[in-house]
Order: sequence, then structure tokens, then C-alpha cells
Amino acid sequence: MAILLDMSRTHVPVLAGELIDLTVPSAGEIAVDCTFGAGGHARLIADRLGPRGTLVCIDRDPAAEERFDEFAREAPCDTRFLRMDYADGLSLLSDEDLRADLVYLDLGISSMQVDARERGFSYSYDAPLDMRMDPEQALDARAIVNGWDERQLAHLFRRFGEDPNARRIAREIVRRRRRAPIDTTGELVAAIEGALPAAVRRSFGGGHPAKRVFQAVRIAVNAELDSLDRALPLAWELLRDDGRLAAISFHSLEDRRVKRFLAERARGCVCPPDFPVCVCGHQPEADLLTGRAIAPTPGEVAQNPRAKSGRLRAARKLPAGETRS
Ligand SMILES: C[S@@+](CC[C@H](N)C(=O)[O-])C[C@H]1O[C@@H](n2cnc3c(N)ncnc32)[C@H](O)[C@@H]1O
Repeated sequence: MAILLDMSRTHVPVLAGELIDLTVPSAGEIAVDCTFGAGGHARLIADRLGPRGTLVCIDRDPAAEERFDEFAREAPCDTRFLRMDYADGLSLLSDEDLRADLVYLDLGISSMQVDARERGFSYSYDAPLDMRMDPEQALDARAIVNGWDERQLAHLFRRFGEDPNARRIAREIVRRRRRAPIDTTGELVAAIEGALPAAVRRSFGGGHPAKRVFQAVRIAVNAELDSLDRALPLAWELLRDDGRLAAISFHSLEDRRVKRFLAERARGCVCPPDFPVCVCGHQPEADLLTGRAIAPTPGEVAQNPRAKSGRLRAARKLPAGETRS
């Protein structure tokens, strides 16, 4: 389905038509948007839920809550906002015995956050080293970059940034901060560039040598993978029979988790492969709506380059006893 995007808004929702085509939000349903952001997806979903439907929106960023207030005034369905980590929000909804027809997550950060220079998410602007989605949280990027030891930093850059230069960069950060703390994104970029020999710097071509380290620090500041690991089972539990779970990821660490989680739910027999007959009786709980992850079309990437690494996966919760279609 082609979705006409409103380019005047600061965040353009990624894979929006595909999300709707796959999960078919319908009149009167209850949906949970775990990552409201600027409400791009929420607007499209709310239109489909209509006046009898309900959309619960979650985001830990107060800037998203401001956007929500604007959205709620015009929304065609019932709405509610929870400003908290989405895993906590899903847990709260479960305590309230809410049953949802659709739960979706659009992971990572919004363009609003990247473009708010003073929040320190971007290596393109010089700003205080912050990177907190929730500005009330104590841990920020400055604490990690100046407080973690060399081994911890190298491990972080390798694990969450998949950066092949992790050790060199960690060593250079520690060397520089002995003279003075690294307080700004500009100083962190300088340390990363200073760690890399000219030939390595040139090998990045159009990419930025600080990209992976910034991703790693941001993931650690916001405990992004812990939230995702906690949220997926909670989201699944919240779904009614035939409910849909969908997630849009932006890097392999997220996508791998979503893929594994959905594949486990879709698995039938769990007997060891050398058993001649099934003795476990395990039934699949999920019908995968995406075999492979769905990527944005070249047209979407041309219109919105930030969509490039987006990957969508979704599954439907099978009613007990139903087998896959
Ligand atoms: C990619 S943006 C979502 C954009 C949104 N779908 C739209 O179309 O405008 C991700 C949002 O999720 C929020 N977020 C990320 N991790 C979160 C978490 N663990 N709990 C709550 N909100 C989170 C961020 O603050 C950000 O606003």
C-alpha cells in the first residue's frame, strides 16, 4: 500500500504502508504503540481503528508526550499516553488486564531526537554528551565515556557498535580523558578520529567513523536491548487470539532478537532431531507474517534516507488449537 507521507513533520514513519498491510489494524480494535515518537505511525493506525477503537501510546521521552497531546486532540479513536519505558508500560497494561489486537514497536531514536542538537545524539553537531531518551534518568553518555574503564569501553564498542576499531578507540578515549574529561560530542568525535590511522579514516568513504561508537554508547545509555528483551514476551502475552505483534528494527542486534523471539513462538515440535516421533506435543503459538524481514523500497529510501536500515517483522498469535495458514 502506498502511503502519502507528510514531509512537513520532522519524523517520517518508516515502512508505514507495510506495517499496515501486514497487521491490518481494523475498526474497533485496541492497539499499543510502544514507541510513539512524533506519532507518525500512530496517526495512520488511529485512522484505521476509528471511533470505537483505542490506541495506547508509550514513549519515555517528554518531547514525545508533547507531540502526543497535539495528536490526541485530533485523533479519531480513544487514546492514552504512558510516559515510561515500553517494557514497564506493557507490564502495567498487563496488570490492568488489557487485551490488545495489535502491539507494535518502531525501535531506536526519532529524527526529532537526532535533530535536537543539544541532546547529544548526533556526531554531526557539537553538543554536551548526553544521549538520554528520558532526560530524568541519571546515566548519560558523559558518565559512560568518562567512567568506564578501557576494557569495558572496548567491549561496548565491539558488542553494541560492532566496531572493528573498538580497542584502538577505547585506548585513545582513556588517554585523552586523563588530561581532561570528554564533555562534548565534538570531543568524542575527535578522540575517535584521533584513534584511527589516516588510511582507516579514508576507508569509511561516505560513512562517518564515529557512527558505530555513537550507536553503542546510545544503546548503553538507554539500555535499549534490555528493554527490547523484556518487552517482547510482555507484548506477546498482552495479545488476544489473532492479535498481531510487529517490530521495525534498525540494526542487526535488534533484528536478531525480534527474529529469534518470533521464530521460537512459531516453532512446533521441540523434540531432539534424532527422535523418530514427536513426544513433546508442543504446538506453535505464532503464524509468521514475514518470512524474511521486510526492507523499505528504494523509493522510500530515496524519499527518506533514514529508512535505509529499517527491517519489519511481524507475527499473528494463533488461537489455541489452530494450525498455521
Ligand atoms: C523511531 S522513534 C518512533 C517514531 C514513531 N514511530 C513515529 O512514526 O513518529 C522511537 C521512539 O521510541 C522511543 N523509545 C525508544 N526506546 C524506548 C523505550 N525502551 N521505552 C519507551 N520509549 C522508547 C524513543 O524515545 C523514540 O521517541
